[in-house]
Amino acid sequence: MTPEEFRAAGHELIDWIADYRSGLSERPVRAQVAPGEVRAALPADPPAEVEPFAALLDDLERVVVPGMTLVQHPMHFGWFPSNASLESVLGDLASSGLGGLGISWESCPALTEVEEVVVDWLRQLTGLSEAWSGTIHDTASTATLTALLAARERASDHAQTRGGLAGAAPLAVYTSEQAHSSVKKAALLAGYGLDHLRAVPCDPVTYAMLPAALAEQVRADLAAGVRPCAVVATTGTTASTAMDPLGEIAGVCAEHEVWLHVDAAMAGAAMLLPERRHLWEGVEQADSLTWNPHKWLGTILDCSLFYVRDVQHLVRVMSTNPSYLRSAEDGQVTQFRDWGIPLGRRFRALKLWFQLRLEGVEAIQARLRRDLANAEWLAEQVRAAAGWELAAPLSLQTLCVRHQPEGLSAEALDEHNRAWAERINRSGAAFLTPAKLGGRWVVRASIGVLGTEREHVARLWELMQEAASA
Ligand SMILES: Cc1ncc(COP(=O)(O)O)c(C=O)c1O
Repeated sequence: MTPEEFRAAGHELIDWIADYRSGLSERPVRAQVAPGEVRAALPADPPAEVEPFAALLDDLERVVVPGMTLVQHPMHFGWFPSNASLESVLGDLASSGLGGLGISWESCPALTEVEEVVVDWLRQLTGLSEAWSGTIHDTASTATLTALLAARERASDHAQTRGGLAGAAPLAVYTSEQAHSSVKKAALLAGYGLDHLRAVPCDPVTYAMLPAALAEQVRADLAAGVRPCAVVATTGTTASTAMDPLGEIAGVCAEHEVWLHVDAAMAGAAMLLPERRHLWEGVEQADSLTWNPHKWLGTILDCSLFYVRDVQHLVRVMSTNPSYLRSAEDGQVTQFRDWGIPLGRRFRALKLWFQLRLEGVEAIQARLRRDLANAEWLAEQVRAAAGWELAAPLSLQTLCVRHQPEGLSAEALDEHNRAWAERINRSGAAFLTPAKLGGRWVVRASIGVLGTEREHVARLWELMQEAASA
């Protein structure tokens, strides 16, 4: 493709995307396909000859869009928001168009230095001190894995440079019962072993980790010859956005030289609002933290921030220095390949840079506050309605609700709540995700899609009442 051909096709594609985004609310939210249907609509053999660009656009409309659950749809309330603001889409396009290669500072100095600047802007915007240095990872899952690798090496005095963990005292990782599955995955991949992964009990009302229970597990491990190594605390758990008490947890960690990693994948965005920062009070005592602009903030996937306090330690754990990557500037510049797992990096900072400059911080803050107010409004409706309850305190913009008609057993109530959510999802009118909380099924309504206004939330509430009484 020549640049001129790219220009023509690119204009068509941008027009198509703009039309698609403007017409989103007319489409069903949930994917309209059965398993295998998308695959069956595509030829099994690769194309031998050039196809016209129009054929691809047709297939986007005919095959791809019906095979997508539309998480940009204003009636999408599932999982957590996974916004893809058009400002950040432009930055992503610029990144692809520039085609930079991030394998060293030398391979693309701008890629490194724009990332340094933008990640520091986000540090300032979330009220973190200058003690933190950050980078962008693809996902919070990768960031948490990186944190647990760094923790492992600190506790084992860099066992990786000797015989690895074989023969060393076992290392334990602690996280709450409500932690995201990525924490377990990271602990297993980092070699701690399932036997040394502790699920710390939570408060039965707030679903936040109980620091006293953590301290007790740490003491039990010490007594049994297991070295407490890392705690992963969550600011904004996946089921109910519960907030683990970081200050008290940090106190336990400090006593036993335990690494504290904070998973604020969802709730990090809320820290752009000074009035919400008390929710992660104590964060300054952590060793590492991650949060996802690719959720509520609105930056298109994949964009996860990872901050550490001791960069030198991280670099010691993660660095390699092959001859073909050395340059005269080594020692004066940041080499982001040494801050995580992959060597090659995309110019991910551009999507954040574009978004912050084109959307503007004040508008982002206003949008977050709008979502919080909409969640509070919906919570008020639920609290006031007979037969409905909030199954967890509302801490941000995600509600956990249950409809409780009289006379049903606990199992029947679980079934009833899953069924009404499924009725809504199947209709395509809105999308919600049921989840288990405290052993019971609840339905989560996570507000925060860019286009979701009060009218959409009000419509959701109508749909919920209709579906639950059907
Ligand atoms: C609390 C929490 N941590 C981690 C993750 C994983 O995020 P990612 O998809 O960026 O790995 C999620 C995803 O929703 C989450 O809710």
